Amino acid sequence: SGGVRYEAESASLSAGGTVDSNHAGFSGTGFANGANAVGSYVEWQVTGPASALTFGYANGTSAARPVDVAIDGAVVATGVAFPPTGAWTAWSTVPKPLSLTAGPHTVRLTATTADGPANLDYLDV
Ligand code: GCU
Repeated sequence: SGGVRYEAESASLSAGGTVDSNHAGFSGTGFANGANAVGSYVEWQVTGPASALTFGYANGTSAARPVDVAIDGAVVATGVAFPPTGAWTAWSTVPKPLSLTAGPHTVRLTATTADGPANLDYLDV
């Protein structure tokens, strides 16, 4: 990681997603609360190179919130779990050994269940 943080409140959200700040402990000024639906996504525009992507998130439910990860529109990891963190105010990370070449890229997390994605705080590149 080159240590650059991309806040989720600056990402693009699919319809129904909101930027919220009602659960304390997040980085920056808020977090992305994606819609509770299959296909709900959060997409960052980032700059490589990178050898790992780390997602900050919270999941206050008792079930994982799986997503598919796409880079530049191509799915590179499926069913990435985002397991429960114990509370919506308990923030954790999901590190993925995914690389980016130099230059601009999109990184999109798309929910694969009707619960939608976890609350997403940031992407560290
Ligand atoms: C609660 C919580 C939200 C969260 C939502 C969910 O409403 O306050 O922050 O996004 O559950 O289940 O996704």
